[in-house]
Amino acid sequence: METAKDRRLGSPAVRAFVALGITVAATAAAIFILGSDAYNWVKAVHVIAVIAWMAGMLYLPRLFVYHADSEVGSQQSETFKLMEYRLTTIIMNPAMIVAWVLGLWLAWQGDFFSSGWFHGKLLLVLAMSGVHGMLSAAVRRFAEDKNTQTARYWRIMNEVPTLLMFGIVILVIVKPF
Ligand code: HEM
Repeated sequence: METAKDRRLGSPAVRAFVALGITVAATAAAIFILGSDAYNWVKAVHVIAVIAWMAGMLYLPRLFVYHADSEVGSQQSETFKLMEYRLTTIIMNPAMIVAWVLGLWLAWQGDFFSSGWFHGKLLLVLAMSGVHGMLSAAVRRFAEDKNTQTARYWRIMNEVPTLLMFGIVILVIVKPF
């Protein structure tokens, strides 16, 4: 579902492409201007992107809990559709792309590709991205009034990104192996 205002902002693909372009340009500028400080600046932006991504990953299934219980065609249901569409296209998709690009750059710079903790983190982050894809597909189903899952299902699904986030943060900070 796309509104006139969303069209002014461009299609989701265009916005994702713009987010990617800005990230690459800002990273290149940071490396050039900051030299040896660049790693920490890039890591700070990575964590900011991760916070935005996670905020959406935790909030979206919560919206589905209430949306699943609202009557098809009601004002409430239409408002949820707009909230879900904007949350995914304006916040979650660009934030996920920025987190991935900068995360891979950090791993390359830090030479982490052979570290056990990084393999574990990568696995959990791939699972997180898979859940992101699943939630995006659900946004499209809700937009067409074709959701068949119950509020209870979405309440349980809400815990999956939370558990993955616990694992990811412990792996990257404690680096237990
Ligand atoms: C999208 C793919 C991701 C990749 C490739 C990636 C990779 C990395 C790398 C290589 C570092 C630097 C580690 C260090 O300097 O010790 C890092 C830092 C960090 N990442 Fe990610 N990450 C990703 C997503 C995430 C997600 C989803 C979260 C949280 C849910 C997260 C949380 C963090 C945190 C908190 C740090 C800072 C750790 C520290 O400074 O000790 N990352 N990430």
